Amino acid sequence: MVTNRRPTAPLRAIGLHQAFGIMKILLGFGLGVLAVAALVFGYFLTGMAPVAAGAAPMPFERYLAGKALHVAIARGAPQDVPIQPTEDSLRAGADTYRQECAVCHGLPGQPKSNIAAGEFPAPPQLWQGKGVTDDPPGETFWKVQNGIRLTGMPGFGKTLSTTQMWQVSLLLANGNNLPDTVKALLSRPYSIDGPK
Ligand code: HEC
Repeated sequence: MVTNRRPTAPLRAIGLHQAFGIMKILLGFGLGVLAVAALVFGYFLTGMAPVAAGAAPMPFERYLAGKALHVAIARGAPQDVPIQPTEDSLRAGADTYRQECAVCHGLPGQPKSNIAAGEFPAPPQLWQGKGVTDDPPGETFWKVQNGIRLTGMPGFGKTLSTTQMWQVSLLLANGNNLPDTVKALLSRPYSIDGPK
């Protein structure tokens, strides 16, 4: 008896109908993907995407870049801080900061450099407001070591020692509670642009 293995005529008809339905959905999906790809390529190839440092951000640029950075840091930032924020290490951090970071991130009570003023995205002025005192030092360490791609934030993993990167990270984490000697160091006049 083979009869009840094979679908009856009406069932076969529904099967064919469904198959067409699925093909239509797939075709629609494929065309949709192509259309989005064409729009994205068009946006970049016709020069509509912003390229000047002073231009407004791309749609979703800040959101997507922020999300990606957040996930990378959550995965990669060290939890344990290997050195203590002693006065000596904070002073060493302040030396490194003046030399490597102040040009972009500023110093307490001193004007922004021309370099900082012309960058996109703008480097946050770390001595205004709370700076990054509410970020775990491991997060700042990650940023200093790796940099932040497609921003002006350099990675210092190949140029500073691990100790120097921790010292500067601890300096920033304790930015609202620094010993006077360290504050004095940071307040020494600094200008890469010459007298203003
Ligand atoms: C050439 C400019 C430049 C230099 C030099 C520089 N940075 Fe940055 N930094 C940036 C920019 C631009 C950003 C913002 C990136 C973004 O928008 O995500 C940034 C972001 C940061 C952040 C994150 C701030 C926040 O609000 O989350 C920290 C922390 C930081 N930098 C620390 C440092 C330290 C420490 C140094 C020196 C060792 C340094 N940076 C040197 C340009 C610079």
